[in-house]
Amino acid sequence: MPFAGGDIKDELVDIAGGHGLLLAGILKANPQAQGILLDLPFVIESAGELLEKEGVRHRVELATGDFFQSVPTGADTYMMKHIIHDWDDESSSKVLRNIHSAMKRKWQGFNNRNGRSRRQRAVPS
Ligand SMILES: C[S@@+](CC[C@H](N)C(=O)[O-])C[C@H]1O[C@@H](n2cnc3c(N)ncnc32)[C@H](O)[C@@H]1O
Repeated sequence: MPFAGGDIKDELVDIAGGHGLLLAGILKANPQAQGILLDLPFVIESAGELLEKEGVRHRVELATGDFFQSVPTGADTYMMKHIIHDWDDESSSKVLRNIHSAMKRKWQGFNNRNGRSRRQRAVPS
C-alpha cells in the first residue's frame, strides 16, 4: 500500500486495525514512526505475520482490547479506518470518548514523573 510521507516521527495507534495493513503502509513511508496495533485478541494473534512480511514488525506494539472499554494511552496520533460506520451513534460515541480520554491522559502524563507505562494489555512479541 503506497503512502507519501517521511515526515511522521510520532507514535500512531490504529484502533481496530485488523492485521495492520494500513499501519504497515504508513510506517514504511515514515521510517521514524512507531505504531501500536489494537484489535480483538483473535485478530492480534495472527497480525504478526503481515507485519513481518511488510518489514515493520519491530516497530509495532501489539495490543489486545475492546475499544468499548479502553484504548492504549499516551500515543501521538489515533486513527480508525472502516470502524465507526459499523456502529450506531451511542456505540460510536463510546469509542470516540474512549479515544478522547486516552489522548487527555497523554497530556496529563507530562506531569507524571514515575516513568510507568500508561498502556494496557500490551502483548509481548
Ligand atoms: C471492518 S474491520 C476494519 C479493519 C481495519 N481497520 C481495516 O480498515 O482494514 C473492523 C475491525 O474492528 C475490529 N473490532 C470489532 N469490534 C472491536 C472491539 N470491540 N474492540 C476492538 N476491535 C474491534 C474487528 O476485529 C476488525 O478487525
